Formats: sequence, C-alpha cells, structure tokens
Amino acid sequence: MIRLLRFLSPYKGRAAAMLLLLFLQVLGTLYIPTLTADIVNRGIVTGDLDHIWRVGGFMLLAAILTAGVSVAVTYLTTWIFSIMGRDIRNALFQKSQSLSLNEFNRFGTASMITRCTNDITQIQQAYMAAIEMLLPAPVMTVAGLILAFSKDTLLAFSIIGAMLVVCLFAFLVSRKALPMFARLQSLLDRFTRVLRENLTGIRVIRAFNRSDSEKERVDQTFTDYAETAIRINKIFAAMMPVILIIMNFCTLLIIGAGGQRVAAGRMQIGDIMALIEYAMLILYYLIMGIMVFMIFPRAQSCANRVSEVLSVQPEAPGTPRSHRDSNEAASPARLELCNVTFQYQGAEEPVLNNISFSAHKGQTTAIIGGTGSGKSTVASLIPRFYDIQSGTIRIDGRNIRHMPKRELRDKIGYVPQKAFLFSGTILDNFLHGKKDAGMEEIRHAAQVAQISDFIDSLESGYQTCVSQGGSNFSGGQRQRLSIARALVKRPEIYIFDDSFSALDFKTDARLRAALREEVRDAAVILVAQRISTIMDADQIVVLDEGRVAGTGTHRELMESCQVYQQIAQSQLSEEELA
Ligand SMILES: Nc1ncnc2c1ncn2[C@@H]1O[C@H](COP(=O)(O)OP(=O)(O)OP(=O)(O)O)[C@@H](O)[C@H]1O
Ligand SMILES: [Mg+2]
Repeated sequence: MIRLLRFLSPYKGRAAAMLLLLFLQVLGTLYIPTLTADIVNRGIVTGDLDHIWRVGGFMLLAAILTAGVSVAVTYLTTWIFSIMGRDIRNALFQKSQSLSLNEFNRFGTASMITRCTNDITQIQQAYMAAIEMLLPAPVMTVAGLILAFSKDTLLAFSIIGAMLVVCLFAFLVSRKALPMFARLQSLLDRFTRVLRENLTGIRVIRAFNRSDSEKERVDQTFTDYAETAIRINKIFAAMMPVILIIMNFCTLLIIGAGGQRVAAGRMQIGDIMALIEYAMLILYYLIMGIMVFMIFPRAQSCANRVSEVLSVQPEAPGTPRSHRDSNEAASPARLELCNVTFQYQGAEEPVLNNISFSAHKGQTTAIIGGTGSGKSTVASLIPRFYDIQSGTIRIDGRNIRHMPKRELRDKIGYVPQKAFLFSGTILDNFLHGKKDAGMEEIRHAAQVAQISDFIDSLESGYQTCVSQGGSNFSGGQRQRLSIARALVKRPEIYIFDDSFSALDFKTDARLRAALREEVRDAAVILVAQRISTIMDADQIVVLDEGRVAGTGTHRELMESCQVYQQIAQSQLSEEELA
C-alpha cells in the first residue's frame, strides 16, 4: 500500500488541502459538544435566554461550517483516489502491454483482469476509508480525552475503560475475520477464471454436453465466494450490537455517576451531555478505525498483486545501435536465424534446438512439420514475443535484440495461427495494419487476400461490424481478413502462421498466386501443414520435434529428407509425387 502512494505525487497540493480540511473537520466536530455544555450550564440552568441565542447561533454556524468542510473533504478524497485509481490502472495496463508473453502467461489473463479491476477498487476503497476513518481517529481520541479530562477525571477514565473493552473485543473478532478476508481474494480470482473459461468456451461446453457439470463447477465457485462473504458479514453483524451495548453502558455510567456528582454540586449538568458526546465520538472513530484495520490486509494483498505486476522488469527493450557490432556482419539475407535454441518458461526442455535458416527478399520460405513440432514458436520468435536463450536472429544483418521493439515490429506483418479480429468495423481492423491507409490500398489488400468479393457482397461493405474476436465471420473469412490486415501494412517480412489452413484448395492457390505478385520486396515466412500450399516455395524448412530435419526445395527434399517424404506420401497422390 505504501509503495502505491507514489501515485499520489502529482496531486500533492490537493492531498495537503485534504489533510488540512480533515483536521478542521475533527476540530469542528469536537467543538460542538463544548458549546452544548455551555448552553446548558450557563443558559438553560440560569435561564439566560440571551446566552442561549448567542451560543446557539454560534453553534449553528459551527455546524454549517463543519458540514461544509466535511463535504469538501469527501469531495477531495473521492477525487484524489478516483484519479489515483485511473493512474494505477493505466500504469498496470501499460505494463501488461510491455511484458513479454512469458511474463504475461505467468499472471494469466483472468488474474490480470481482476488485478486491473477489482484489486484496484479495493485499494481505492481502503485508502479512502483510511483517510476518512483512520486518520481522524487519533486526533479525535486525544483531543476528545483532553476535553473529557477537563470536565471530569473519573468519568474520563470510564471512557478509557470502554475503549479498552472495544479494543479487546475487536482483537478477538479480527483474529477470526482476517484469514477470511485473505481467502476471499483468492476465491475471487478463481471465480473470475472459471467464469471467463465458461463464457469463452461456451460452444465447446455445449457441444460436449458439459453444460450441467460446468454449471455445477461455476455454482460451486460462486457458492464458496458467497459463503465466505456471508461468514464475514455474520461476524460484523454480531459485532455491531455488542459494540452498541458497550457504548450504551458507557452512556449509562456517565449519566449515573455524573448525576450523583451534579447532585453533590461537584459538576454541572451540561458537562454530562458533553461527556456523553465525547464518549460517543471517541468510540465511533475507534470502531471505524478498527474496521479499516480489518479491510486493510485485503487491500494490502491487492496492492501486492498490483505491485507484483508493476515491478516486473520488462525484458531488454532493444538497445539501439547505429553501427553493427562485430558479429552483425553484413548479410544478404533479410531474415536469418542462427543456431536458435528456445525454451518456454517453466518447460522442462527446449522446444527448439539449434534452428538455422535464412529468408531472402522476394522469396518464400516455408516451414512445415508435424503438429507440435515448433512452427508457431519459430514464427513468434521473429517479432520477439519471446526472447531466445541462445543463438541469434537477424534482420538485414541486425540482431533483433538490438532493435527497438517498435522498429522491429513495424517491419513485420504477422498473421497468427488463430485469426483474431477486433470489435469495430472491417475497415477499423484493416487500419490496425496502417493507420493512414487509403481506401485504394485497403481494397487492393482485400483483393489479394481474396476477400474483396465477400466484403462487397455485404450490405454495409467495409463498414460491416465485427463482433468481439470476429465471431460473426467464418474461420476462413477471419483468416483472409487477418491476411488482408497484414497486407495493408506492407511490411518487409510477412509471417503467415498456418494462415491458409481454413481455405479451400482453389482459394488457397489463388491467394498464393496473388501474394507472389504482391510481396516482391518482402521476405515471406509461410508456415503450413499442407504440402500443396508450400510445394512451390523457394525454400522449405522441415521441422521435426524442434529440430531442422532438412532445408531445400520440394524436389531436393523429396530426394534427401525422410521426414518430408513421409509428410508428402501421406498427402499427395502417386502422380503428384512423381
Ligand atoms: N506458451 C507455451 N508455453 C509452454 N509450452 C508451449 C507454449 N506454446 C507452445 N508450447 C509447446 O511448444 C511446442 C511447440 O508448439 P508450437 O505451437 O510451436 O507447435 P506447432 O508446430 O505450431 O504446432 P501446430 O501445427 O499444431 O500449430 C508444443 O509441444 C507445445 O506444447
Ligand atoms: Mg502452430
């Protein structure tokens, strides 16, 4: 919690004003009972109407001022912590964007969402409660006690006695409630995860007739959360009456003992009223302070979760170098992988071992291999979604580690294996490739991607709405739309990760023919499962269990590479093989 206070630094002035006003509010609140005592003692008892009017007017003024000040305090507190919440959310989001996928996967999407939403809300609420309830408590207690002692020593001690009883009781309650608060947060995480899984996987759940069992699972997480919350609330519900009883006992004591003193002429009647109000104020703030203490551990664990993300060192952003270092020799290749070895975080062994190949401008380099052989992993290393453990990847002779990520990614048009579209219009999605692309360029890209006829057939054409993830399009349409998006960008390197898999053979062939014309100046990396898609590539890299099993053209590989022959035999007819 303390570390997050740095987010307050831009608003120092307002924070100081808030503290000052808070102090005034406490003084105002304590001043009013003193005036009450004065009215009773010197006005009512002596029948001095003038005095009553004068002090009464003064009291009204004090009450109005105090009310105004507390409105200002609440306004400032809300303002400061809402803005602080916004700033922390922004920082968290920025951070999540800069994390490597390895780091991101460590937290998980569901937890990231909870951290950005609920966790920050908890932190905001705890800070606000601390300002409004906890901070005034010590001032209120000390000042209230001083005033109480000035009225009567013995009765002031009885207030202290009541405070001790409340503290003891709160200690007992918090021992029970604190672990439950901690549990609540982890239950919330689980609940978000299960809910998210169920909402995104709805089709699979229905297809496998898992609706009932999933419903049970979701229900169980909701129930666990609700039960813990109910248990906490029960404790608090039981706490309230007990505290009221303590407060009432304290009042009784003051009235009883005070009455005797008034009768004995040792005390004035108005002082009893003042003492009761001091006692109530002190106990109220004490109880509120204790409550805040109880919600603090939960907020603290939220703050830790937020800080955990914020404190991740983003991997080296790429140190720009104007000149090439000694092993960044000028190379004719646009893209070059040299002995690349890569292991996912937490995995037992590398998924890629000593991968080397180079891709040239104007040529298509295909990567083929069985499922799980590491094709997508190679594709994701080029835009540096992950950093490799050893070896080098160079673009135009420059190590990609020495390039700012933005520059690197500007050079690359990446079409992921699982086509992903953003909600908005088709046009919006194309503009993701290039912000200022003209309609001409966009139409052209759509033509090359063999999707323009389809878009033209839509009633709203390029303005057609895309729903979240692109779920209102077929798999093949999504693929072609994402291909078109990459084409709009006109990058130096294209990476198509199995992007033609959902296309029929004819569309696949037409698209590749159109693409060949289009990408003359770029290097194309084409990952595929189908031999027919890559047969006429300039170069084919065969991956097998994370190793390069062979490199060459279709003809060369048919003669030399066993893995390739097997794939070919399983897919092509005798005459095609000949
Ligand atoms: N994020 C990840 N964390 C850990 N392991 C992963 C991750 N992604 C992939 N793997 C593992 O890496 C290996 C290679 O996966 P990859 O996705 O590169 O295969 P692929 O050749 O693209 O397969 P496919 O043809 O099915 O798309 C697999 O064994 C997979 O289990
Ligand atoms: Mg893949």
